[in-house]
Amino acid sequence: MKIGIDKIGFYTPHIYVDMNKLAVARNVEPEKFTIGIGQDKMAVPPITQDSVTLGANAALEIIDQADKEAIDFVIFGTETGIDHSKSGAVYIHHLLGLKPNARCVEVKHACYGATAGIQMAKGHVALNPESKVLVIGSDIARYGLNTGGESTQGAGAVALLISANPRIMTLENNSVSLTADIMDFWRPLYSDKALVDGKFSNEQYISFFQKVWEKYKEETGMDLEDFEAMCYHLPYTKMGLKAMRTVLEDASEEVQERLKEHYRVSTLYNRNVGNIYTGSLYLSLLSLLELNDDIKAGSRIGMFSYGSGAVGEFFSGILEENYKEHLLVKEHKDLFESRKEVTVEEYEQIFEKTLPTDGSNIELDINEDSATICLSGLTDDMRQYVNKM
Ligand code: CAA
Repeated sequence: MKIGIDKIGFYTPHIYVDMNKLAVARNVEPEKFTIGIGQDKMAVPPITQDSVTLGANAALEIIDQADKEAIDFVIFGTETGIDHSKSGAVYIHHLLGLKPNARCVEVKHACYGATAGIQMAKGHVALNPESKVLVIGSDIARYGLNTGGESTQGAGAVALLISANPRIMTLENNSVSLTADIMDFWRPLYSDKALVDGKFSNEQYISFFQKVWEKYKEETGMDLEDFEAMCYHLPYTKMGLKAMRTVLEDASEEVQERLKEHYRVSTLYNRNVGNIYTGSLYLSLLSLLELNDDIKAGSRIGMFSYGSGAVGEFFSGILEENYKEHLLVKEHKDLFESRKEVTVEEYEQIFEKTLPTDGSNIELDINEDSATICLSGLTDDMRQYVNKM
């Protein structure tokens, strides 16, 4: 039985900051951010968006009535959840109006959570071929103003519907995972900002990629020429390229050119959003699938998932016949075009605006936010959500 990705939804907040302007404000040459890091725009989450609303908005655009009846498992991958106990999946289940007899959980391991969710979903569908699983990767990447990681922040979510006989991509069964207890990036429970050893995290990302790729080749007998494209977890768009470059010389000139060109296409969305942690790899896949004009059905796409701390995985999928017809190219073009730029000063004010943590109530103005699902306030320590539909 074929199991894989049947639909892909995406959401990012309606405002962004321009990386050239952020560079000027930070006394950095703009090319460092746009070329060295590889980011043009960075999504800015308003206070009315959190990982739950971003995830729910991403899922909203792909879920129809038949899906609502078939989804029996919601897996919410996030590392910026809103509660230490209750899962974000339960809020999303409610906001989307899914059927009561469904399982809902939150899965965490840094940026790897959605990949873990996809593998769990695959196993679930293998045992229950009629079921559909909603897997969401949703995050707000926060390092802090004027920090080394600031240029690699972002916000957004990707929602994937995993089912039998998928219309976009069948996931292959070969996959190689790797785990090692390292401290390259983490976020203690008391902090709303990530802590990171930037250079070490880059080195570990590359080393994890090399190790899982080598083992994957050994186990499958496949090589670079068997892949039409490779998508990477993209904390910033230069990162995957740095990893890919370390293995490219094994391939012919033609294969190298193809992989480099497809890599470029796979970074276009991420370049304008920033890091969305758990969703980043899948945003890159979406960028490749929606913006390429030469990748045919039957092509194999490699995917490298990396969650600091660290868990990495290399796996692959085969594109289905007419996969393009099941993508929301126009909707995503409109989403990008409808965004508004904020100044660096406005971004800083929005960044500093946080919800009360002392038990006091707050009512938020949701009229400024064009999203369908918003956070409208906090009452007795409980987040209040609205679906404007
Ligand atoms: N023109 C062109 N390029 C320039 C330039 C200019 N004027 N000035 C600098 N650059 C280049 C540098 O040469 C460098 O390129 P290479 O890496 O290819 O050599 C690049 O810009 C970045 O410069 P620095 O290394 O000096 O940048 P930095 O020290 O300020 O920090 C960073 C970069 C470490 C990524 C930092 O932003 C950071 O800590 N980010 C958060 C951590 C992160 O994203 N890690 C990635 C791996 S971990 C992961 O993947 C999980 C996750 O999601 C967090």
